[in-house]
Amino acid sequence: MEKLVITGGTPLKGEVTISGAKNAAVAILPATLLINGTCTIENLPNINDVKLYCEILEKIGAKITWITRNEIKIDTTNVCCTKAPLDITRKFRASYYLIGSMLGRCKDVQVSLPGGCNLGARPIDQHIKGFEALGANVVVNQGNITATAKKLTGTSIYMDVVSVGATINVMLASVLAEGTTIIDNAAKEPHIVDVANFLNTMGADIRGAGTDMIKINGVKELRGGASYSIVPDQIEAGTFMLSAMATKGDITIKNCITKHLESVTAKIIEMGGLVEEDGDTIRVKCTKRPNRANIKTLPYPGFPTDLQPQIGVVLSLADGTSTINESIWESRFQYTQELVKMGAKITAQGKSAFFEGVKSLSGAPVCSTDLRAGAALIIAGIAANGKTEVYNIEHIDRGYEDIEGKFRKLGAKIERVNE
Ligand code: EPU
Repeated sequence: MEKLVITGGTPLKGEVTISGAKNAAVAILPATLLINGTCTIENLPNINDVKLYCEILEKIGAKITWITRNEIKIDTTNVCCTKAPLDITRKFRASYYLIGSMLGRCKDVQVSLPGGCNLGARPIDQHIKGFEALGANVVVNQGNITATAKKLTGTSIYMDVVSVGATINVMLASVLAEGTTIIDNAAKEPHIVDVANFLNTMGADIRGAGTDMIKINGVKELRGGASYSIVPDQIEAGTFMLSAMATKGDITIKNCITKHLESVTAKIIEMGGLVEEDGDTIRVKCTKRPNRANIKTLPYPGFPTDLQPQIGVVLSLADGTSTINESIWESRFQYTQELVKMGAKITAQGKSAFFEGVKSLSGAPVCSTDLRAGAALIIAGIAANGKTEVYNIEHIDRGYEDIEGKFRKLGAKIERVNE
């Protein structure tokens, strides 16, 4: 079992380069199944969820060649197996994208109900509603989902909730459908635009991604043969921006899209941080104890739930009392119990948490309960006085590329230790 051992108390300073977006990568990899041929994917984050996805694609007949650490070539010509390896698909959330892409490719697919971070109930009723509206027959039985169709026909689908996963999944299923599909009340996250751009590069006809109405004109085939570079990860960029705030540091974050980070930038300025933007670079500097702030997580372009634990660390150390209202996931405050072990004063009740800022945190052994909680605990450990040990770091490795290497380059004293 591995853990991260951090000796805290160092303000983070220097430059960090952001990797490709995890949540775009785990949708673009299954999207390659809609191509009958090859494509090259660049700026692919080297993280465990990506490696798992590559394993799944290889098990169902794709040929994957790693060109560099962050670039692969995928040949899907020989994919014919419609049953995904259930033991792997069960392990992570984004395996649900195999349903949309395999339905599109073969009109037949079986996967297990997706796993992933425990953030409370994670229903997929909107995905199923979309597939059924396109003409698929979907059966959920003993933890597995089977979806079949004679043919898929474009239609209008109104999403009852704004869902990243359902928007992408229905988009995947409708790219090769007959006629036009309209997704109304669609999610607008940058990775939705990225998946649409990838599919359009390969020959799809998708318009309106990034707005709440996406129109997909079905095409007969996707050509492949092209290269596509994945968008930078706005959650990784936000994680480093907030780590500058928590440690009173000065970090220049390279390879990010500043527009994607507006909600985070606004909160950092409200908390007294200094933000300088220059092209694809953001510098965040914090010279004093952060001001208190109130946060409400919302779908994009609102403040992202995936940065809620990280900003929770900043608010734990802020001057005054702050509130976070979590409106996406019912159980995303598990990290607060770990921060309390480090001296934070937090009360979490249902979907709200109240932070009475303290002047400093002290190191302690803590447990990463999910991916973003893990990132938050690393930030807390770097900001705290003394030694912090972060356990259950497999969650963190699922979604952050070389996280301790990047923090170490910024001056953090952090080591991965095998127990
Ligand atoms: N929802 C439904 N029915 C559905 C789908 C979603 O009620 O069929 C609800 C969910 O319960 C939730 C809300 O809608 O309350 C939003 O869920 P969404 O479908 O947008 O989440 P997701 O697609 O399962 C993705 C990211 C999450 C991120 C959320 C919200 C991936 C693989 N995961 O999940 O990322 O928190 O969007 O932005 O893209 C992470 O990276 O740490 C992570 C958890």
